[in-house]
Amino acid sequence: FEKMPLHVEINGVNQSLSIEPRVTLLDLLREQLHLTGTKKGCDYGQCGACTVHVDGHRVNSCLTLAMTVDGKKVTTIEGLANGDELHPMQEAFIKHDGFQCGYCTPGQIMSAVACIREGHANSEAEIREYMSGNICRCGAYPNIVNAIQEVKA
Ligand code: FES
Repeated sequence: FEKMPLHVEINGVNQSLSIEPRVTLLDLLREQLHLTGTKKGCDYGQCGACTVHVDGHRVNSCLTLAMTVDGKKVTTIEGLANGDELHPMQEAFIKHDGFQCGYCTPGQIMSAVACIREGHANSEAEIREYMSGNICRCGAYPNIVNAIQEVKA
C-alpha cells in the first residue's frame, strides 16, 4: 500500500507520520511509536485492552484506522500521568488492587477515566455497565469499581 501523511497529536506531542491506510491506531501506537502501554488482547473489539482517548472520548484503537485520527488528539496510558505524578485513577487502581496480571489495566484505566468524565459513574450498576467492554481475566472487577468510586467521590 502507498503511504499517506498523518498529522496527529499524541500525548501532547505533534507527530507528522507517513503510514499505510490499512494500519490501525493500535498498531501505529505499538509498532511505529513504541507506545506499548496500550495492549492488544483480541484485535477485534471484544476485550477493551486497546482503549485510548481520541479528543477525550474513549475508543477501541484496534477498531480505529489510524488515518481517521488525522488532526485529532490521542491520549494513551503513557500520557495520563503528570510527569512523575500518577493520575488519580492510576493511584486508585494501586490502592484498591484493581488488577492482578495487569494486562488489561491500561485499557481499564482509560475507560475508567472516561467513565467519570462522561458522567457514568453515579452508581455501581452504572459503572459496571460502562466498563462492561473491558474484560479482566483475573476478575478484578469489584476492586476496579471501588477505584472508580473513590476517584468519583
Ligand atoms: Fe481492541 Fe481487544 S484489542 S478490543
